This record gives sequence, structure tokens and C-alpha cells, in this order.
Amino acid sequence: MKDACAREITYLRLSVTDLCDLRCRYCMPPQGVPKRPHDEICSVEELVEIVRQAAALGVRKVRLTGGEPLVRRGILDICRGIAALEGVEEICLTTNGTALSRLALPLREAGVDRLNVSLDTLRPDRFAHMTRVGRLEDVLSGLKAARTAGFTGTKLNVVLMKGFNEDEIPDFVNLTWREPLEVRFIELMPIGEGTREEFLPSSAVLEACPELEAVDVSGVARRYRVPGGRGLVGLIEPLSRCFCSGCDRIRVTADGRLKPCLHSEQELPLRGLSGLALRQALQEGIAAKPPRHHLAETGRSGAGRTMNQIGG
Ligand code: GTP
Ligand code: 5AD
Ligand code: SF4
Repeated sequence: MKDACAREITYLRLSVTDLCDLRCRYCMPPQGVPKRPHDEICSVEELVEIVRQAAALGVRKVRLTGGEPLVRRGILDICRGIAALEGVEEICLTTNGTALSRLALPLREAGVDRLNVSLDTLRPDRFAHMTRVGRLEDVLSGLKAARTAGFTGTKLNVVLMKGFNEDEIPDFVNLTWREPLEVRFIELMPIGEGTREEFLPSSAVLEACPELEAVDVSGVARRYRVPGGRGLVGLIEPLSRCFCSGCDRIRVTADGRLKPCLHSEQELPLRGLSGLALRQALQEGIAAKPPRHHLAETGRSGAGRTMNQIGG
């Protein structure tokens, strides 16, 4: 279905939990977020019903997000439930990768088509510092497990941060030389714990690696290639290049609220609804999707939630 700006909505980002096993400094407070009572979070059945109704309205791609989707109990049931629905053509998942060694194969068998893995540094000490509790080797072995399980088209998400990982831009770009991997540099958005002092524009990537040649625009990313390289380098530039006019997505939070736009406080409660009533609520939300975000003017997200509560 189309929104009021004639944008065709085909992509649902479904958050399955607020929780995460890491504590990335730009995303989570040091103590993490309080665990909510079970009944405040959508059940497996509720989540599958939301996707069923969204698919009836034209959603074709579903991305499971978090927090960290792989800490959600029942994640495989959620994947299987969605995979069995008519109309859903692609199931993707965005993960920090720490549990992939154990879960890559089961996820593949449960119907997940593609993975995006968040990884902001390739140095073990920096990884431990940024995530407060994580180990880089877990993510690296997770990536290997994903390949072994048969996942292709995996993307690495690297949030650019001044004074933290700008000197690693060439190392990340070099990964795409040898591997058929898409490395995407993301501009830090002023949401949750993300501050403006650490902001680094995506132009830093092109300055550090002038050899990159433009390829195309795909979804939210402008893509480049190292000449002769096997992979791709993407730039996701919510601040330098607003991509809202091409937005094709809606979001649902783990507590069952529809967010038509990541950076708007507008939310619609979906819990307690099913069938036609749920479909109508989704329809209303899509119709009311804001035309764009206002990060550049206000310097702050209007989301009214932190990133782990929305799923990016
Ligand atoms: P693909 O399906 O592989 O293209 O993935 P994706 O880019 O849609 O999803 P992913 O979860 O990997 O998100 C990458 C980055 O883009 C994250 O930092 C998200 O927060 C950001 N992002 C995704 N959708 C939007 C959006 O609608 N608006 C803004 N401003 N940022 C977004
Ligand atoms: N700005 C940009 N990207 C962010 N992510 C989390 N917080 C921010 C932020 N403030 C990224 C994660 C993950 C994706 C879903 O969103 O690193 O890759
Ligand atoms: Fe967890 Fe992702 Fe937030 Fe890091 S960015 S704390 S991995 S939800």
C-alpha cells in the first residue's frame, strides 16, 4: 500500500526485544535496560499475526531487529512463523553477531534469508571498550558460522565515530577487496546515547579511500567498489543525504507499537488487535507516515525512544 506521499510500503522492521547482551556506548546505558515483564512484550503469535496483516497490505520484506534479536526466547519460532506466511518474500535479521556461532545454521533452517551484522571495530581492545562487555572473536567466529551455514549477501554495519574508528576505515574497505561482503558505513544519528561530538560525516570514507568508484544507490545506501574488488562499500548518510523520499518501511516495536517513521514520536498501539482490525490500524499508520525526519534542523531525533527500543 502507498502512504500519503505515494511511497510504496513493502518493508517491515520488527523489533522482537529491547534487550541486548552488549552495551554499546552510543546505544545503551552502562547498566543496560530493565527487563520488562513478559506480558509487556508481544508474544510469538502476536508478532506473526502483525506480519500476516502487514503482508496482506503489501509488505514483502521483513527484518527482525532488537535490541539484539538473538537474545529473544522463541526467535526460531518467530522466524518459522513468518517464513510460512503468504506474501513474505524475504526475511532478514540485523544482529550484533555474538550468538551466530550457535544460531547461524538454525536461523537458516528456520527460513532467514539474509543477515546484517553490526561491527564497529576490528580491534579486540576497542571492541571490548565500545561494547563494554563483548569479545570481538565471538563476532568473527559468528561471521564464519554464517558463511558455513550458507548465508550470502551478508552486510557489515559500521557506525562511524570520530576519535574511535575513523583510522580503521581503510581496514574495513580492504575487507571488501577479498570477500564478497558489503561493508556499510553509517553516520551516527543523534538518538539515544549517540552524541554530536562523535559525529563523522560519510565523506570521511571517500577522503580516506579516494580509489572507491560509485556503483549505485540501493535502499538507504549509496554504494561504491574498490576497483576489481569482490565486495561493496555502502554509505548510509541520514544526516548528509536525507533518503526519506524513497522510504519504503514501517517499524513495529517489541511492545507492539507501530512507528511509521524512525525519528518521529508518532506511534500507534497494535496490541489486542488481530485480523481486519489490526490490518486497519496498520493502514492508518501507513497513511499517516511523516514525509521526512528533521535531524538536520533540530539536531536531535524526535523518536522519544532509544535505538534499542526501536531496532534502528
Ligand atoms: P538492507 O535490507 O540490507 O538494505 O538493510 P537495512 O539497511 O534496511 O537495515 P539495517 O538494520 O542494516 O540498518 C542499517 C542502518 O540504517 C541502521 O543504522 C539503521 O538505523 C539505519 N536505517 C534503517 N532504516 C532507516 C530509516 O528509515 N531512516 C533512517 N534515518 N535510518 C535508517
Ligand atoms: N546511529 C546510527 N546507527 C546506529 N545503530 C545503533 N545506534 C545508532 C545510531 N545512533 C546501528 C547499529 C546497527 C543498526 C541496526 O543500527 O549499529 O547496525
Ligand atoms: Fe546492542 Fe545493537 Fe545497541 Fe550495540 S547497537 S548495544 S549491539 S542493540
